[in-house]
Amino acid sequence: MAYNEKYEEVLRKYMSKNLDAKNAAEARAQELRNKFPEIAEMDAVLNKTAIRIMTASMEGGDYQKKVKSILEEVAAINEARSAFLEENGYPGDYSDVKYECPICSDVGYVNGKMCTCLRKELAIAGYHSSGIYKLIQKESFDNFDFGYYSGEDRKNIENIYNAAREFADGFSKKEMRNLLFIGGTGLGKTHLSTSIAKVVIDNGFDVVYETAQRVFKDYEDERFGRAQKNTEGEYPSAKYEDCDLLIIDDLGAEMQSQFNSSALYGIINTRINSDKSTIISTNLTQGEMLDRYSDRITSRLLGNYDVCLFKGKDVRMQKLKLK
Ligand SMILES: Nc1ncnc2c1ncn2[C@@H]1O[C@H](COP(=O)(O)OP(=O)(O)O)[C@@H](O)[C@H]1O
Ligand SMILES: [Mg+2]
Ligand SMILES: [Zn+2]
Repeated sequence: MAYNEKYEEVLRKYMSKNLDAKNAAEARAQELRNKFPEIAEMDAVLNKTAIRIMTASMEGGDYQKKVKSILEEVAAINEARSAFLEENGYPGDYSDVKYECPICSDVGYVNGKMCTCLRKELAIAGYHSSGIYKLIQKESFDNFDFGYYSGEDRKNIENIYNAAREFADGFSKKEMRNLLFIGGTGLGKTHLSTSIAKVVIDNGFDVVYETAQRVFKDYEDERFGRAQKNTEGEYPSAKYEDCDLLIIDDLGAEMQSQFNSSALYGIINTRINSDKSTIISTNLTQGEMLDRYSDRITSRLLGNYDVCLFKGKDVRMQKLKLK
């Protein structure tokens, strides 16, 4: 629910973002006109450009030539205007419209496709409410420390770290890649998932990160008519199927039920069939997974996911002892 509120807030902001940028530019232009009569005079001429061109087209005669001379005059005034502003301590483009995103001019879409800037904001909006926004500030590749692992475990975690980095840096919608993080509590599974999420979001992809408990609750709410659709008419669970990268944390912490099992199979299968990447982490051992989930689920998981076995001593405990 919180996800949707944030999501809608971003979409609402985008509805007026382009216009807001234009209005802000106009306010700066007005500020200049109030301060400098010279600018007011120039703007009065510039603001008539469209009308003058239309009039020229109706007057007949050599239309092309008239338009050309109007445009030349406009260019000269613009140049003089910038020069005047700079002489008076302003940037020459002070009252130009300044969009945050030059690709979509803050509209959020280009040729009917969602712009990366909007995607990114929506993803971040999702993190804000799902709690991962805070994690992203705290846990990243940069502060992942190999010093907590010793001997064989250290070699092992270095390999996993490299695989995670490679996954994040090379993330692409063209190639599906899936990771299955298996291992005891406090070994860095969530930390590395968060690290991957950050890089992939920064690269403009649409990432959804949720705990298994939350994911299944969304499906359950939908099934029992408790879920609400967002403005696009989609249930919260739609994002688990649509996003570029889905990260399900703590699989196995959810209640064991037939319903959850079939929801899990649905997600895994749909994403594999649509070539979309997924990361799943779990505290369950492989044996426990086999006991808990049906063959069709475990074979899908073990067959299509690169398995990373986390080993070592609980880092959270090690950090506590150090304090
Ligand atoms: N290699 C590491 N370097 C630094 N901090 C770590 C490392 N591994 C885990 N942590 C920290 O220890 C805590 C538990 O790690 P977490 O990733 O949540 O474990 P898991 O998901 O495997 O149970 C977190 O606060 C995390 O940031
Ligand atoms: Mg975890
Ligand atoms: Zn954009």
